[in-house]
Amino acid sequence: MSEETESKGANAMWGGRFAAGPDEVMEAINASIDFDKRLAMQDIRGSRAHAKMLAQQGIITEADAGEIDKGLLTVLSEIEAGKFQFSKALEDIHMNVEARLRELIGDAAGRLHTARSRNDQVATDFRLWVRDRIDEADAALTGLIGALLDQAEAGADTVMPGFTHLQTAQPVTWGHHMMAYVEMFGRDRSRFRDARARMNECPLGAAALAGTSFPIDRQATAAALGFDRPAANSLDAVSDRDFALEFLSCATMTAGHLSRMAEELVIWSSAQFRFVTISDRFSTGSSIMPQKRNPDAAELIRAKIGRIFGAQATLTMVMKGLPLAYSKDMQEDKEPVFDAADSLGIALAAMTGMIADLTPNPEKLRGAAGSGFSTATDLADWLVREANIPFRDAHHITGTLVKMAEDRGCDLPDLTLADMQGVDSRIEPSVFDVLGVDNSVASRTSYGGTAPARVREQIARWREQLA
Ligand code: ARG
Repeated sequence: MSEETESKGANAMWGGRFAAGPDEVMEAINASIDFDKRLAMQDIRGSRAHAKMLAQQGIITEADAGEIDKGLLTVLSEIEAGKFQFSKALEDIHMNVEARLRELIGDAAGRLHTARSRNDQVATDFRLWVRDRIDEADAALTGLIGALLDQAEAGADTVMPGFTHLQTAQPVTWGHHMMAYVEMFGRDRSRFRDARARMNECPLGAAALAGTSFPIDRQATAAALGFDRPAANSLDAVSDRDFALEFLSCATMTAGHLSRMAEELVIWSSAQFRFVTISDRFSTGSSIMPQKRNPDAAELIRAKIGRIFGAQATLTMVMKGLPLAYSKDMQEDKEPVFDAADSLGIALAAMTGMIADLTPNPEKLRGAAGSGFSTATDLADWLVREANIPFRDAHHITGTLVKMAEDRGCDLPDLTLADMQGVDSRIEPSVFDVLGVDNSVASRTSYGGTAPARVREQIARWREQLA
């Protein structure tokens, strides 16, 4: 590098053909170090695997590889200790690490980038990072499912209203309702696992876009980094971010389920419902209204999907229309994914804590379960089963009885046998056996139904699956 280029600040990594350094605005738009420093661990892990492979293949000496490895570990410890000086002029995490490596070990550092490009480097780093977040989401979902199973077990016999259109429909159990979310979060978990299996191919060695003339061993680096295999096409390896999009898609769906559950907690904890109490640990007060207990955590979980889905929309737009292979547009892949992963992580943790602490209110749940003529279907079914009345007619008779109860301001079980026989003489005393909410839920024994015995089978199945 000549004196002249040096004085104008040309980049140390490619300054050879540049006479002057970048404009301030150029540096500001170009630099990613402020956010891609989050890839530091993955970057160093990838570089260590690459250097080791280069030595194994005789592309660099064992001595140089040893120096590089030691130096990278020093860089890692500096970053972990918060002592590393990140430089905007060095643009991104890859060049920051390499420049520091050169300060530490000298010329051998210049051999690390043999048979590699920042294009396959960043694709590898980012995959490793997303893969870690997938594993974290998997573990967090497992924890949430565990908390829901505990709730389901404790409340397997607790009756509550089941809703359609948020109108009382038929009695169900607390356990059944909790288990509905177990199914949803279970599918979310399996979606993350599917995404992981698909994304677990190593881009390293694709180099800039075309592969390399050096005799590298891509199987070795793939294995060292925990990938199932090297990516089979070098252009694809450096130019797609579908793995990140798939992560965001899984995250969006999980966030959607979290949002629905959060909405139920907001409704259920209100004074009008009082179905549940959210623990002090997950509630907030009001600075002006002393009586308030606000479900802020649930509300924030409900909102997180906005950021997560926003990230998916952002990255989809970034990627559309990009010609193969790498374009700098793709540097814009990271911030939305980082933010979405953070949002998902905190939402899962908060929901798990809230569910673990949640106290259902059995009296309120039972009272609401029995109101709103929730056992009208049971009455109609009784007419079909015991009096051999066609369901359509039974529906009509029941409707007449519901109207009668409504006019009197009472519930179905409060009508007398005489009242009922006045509407249809085939009604017998045993009809009262099906009108209680406990009888109602106990009778719904079809597979997947709300009968406590059925729900307990599902709890057992899930416990076994998690074990
Ligand atoms: N900071 C860049 C990114 O995140 C690294 C790759 C740069 N590659 C390049 N050809 N300029 O995408």
